[in-house]
Amino acid sequence: MWLKDSSIGRKFIMSITGLFLVLFLLFHGSMNLCLVIDDLFGTEAYNWICAMLGANWYAVAGTGVLALGVLVHFGYAIYLTILNYRARGNDRYAIEARQEGVDWESKNMLVLGIIVLGFLLLHLYNFWFKMQFAELTGIHTSMFDPQDGSAIVKALFTNGWAGIIYCLLYIVWLCALWFHLNHGIWSALQTLGWSNLIWLKRIKVIGTIFATITVGLFMIVTLYFLGVNIGQMCA
Ligand code: HEM
Repeated sequence: MWLKDSSIGRKFIMSITGLFLVLFLLFHGSMNLCLVIDDLFGTEAYNWICAMLGANWYAVAGTGVLALGVLVHFGYAIYLTILNYRARGNDRYAIEARQEGVDWESKNMLVLGIIVLGFLLLHLYNFWFKMQFAELTGIHTSMFDPQDGSAIVKALFTNGWAGIIYCLLYIVWLCALWFHLNHGIWSALQTLGWSNLIWLKRIKVIGTIFATITVGLFMIVTLYFLGVNIGQMCA
């Protein structure tokens, strides 16, 4: 099958799943902004959205599709790396001269992806496990109501020194995600055919803008709660 056996087919799969995950991140980051809005204006938008995305068939189906997207994207990344490694044969021991015009991210996409995935597992344990999973299975490991997403997020980020450590961990995670997306988005657009000499520079700029907006949404929330936490500790 060309999607598995040809180089362009494999890159196509990486691109489609990667862009799908970026769309999820844009939605997830926008939704998280409600945490800040609720905290500033006393509204309850975040928990209203969490209730919609809780234990119902469409939310569970969405989680399933998302999990599949992550698995295929990561699985293909490993597969492509192994094929590239084999294809280089004995040349892989040759000392590499610095290649002009090759950005740092492009050579470290797998490592960046592994860092992003590692933090994601911790993130899912902290939130998804205590919310959707708890609602579906009745297994509660948190003192909070699984539908009270707002309280669960605040408890993690504004919990004194532990909250500061968590915010710093999220900042490291988000930096790795930015580098991964900064290369990944334009590279995916190029694979899908949106590139020529004029457009190459433009899609690189588009990639950087999208990476910055996507990661910026999460960064606003993290920095906001870091500020709230420090304010509470100093009060
Ligand atoms: C400030 C940063 C973030 C906050 C406050 C946050 C919050 C949450 C919460 C509360 C949930 C559980 C929702 C539920 O189960 O109903 C969740 C799920 C999830 N988050 Fe995040 N998140 C953040 C950043 C991220 C990032 C950077 C990624 C990916 C790189 C990510 C990926 C996910 C995924 C894949 C799920 C599971 C979604 C599902 O169940 O369908 N999150 N997040």
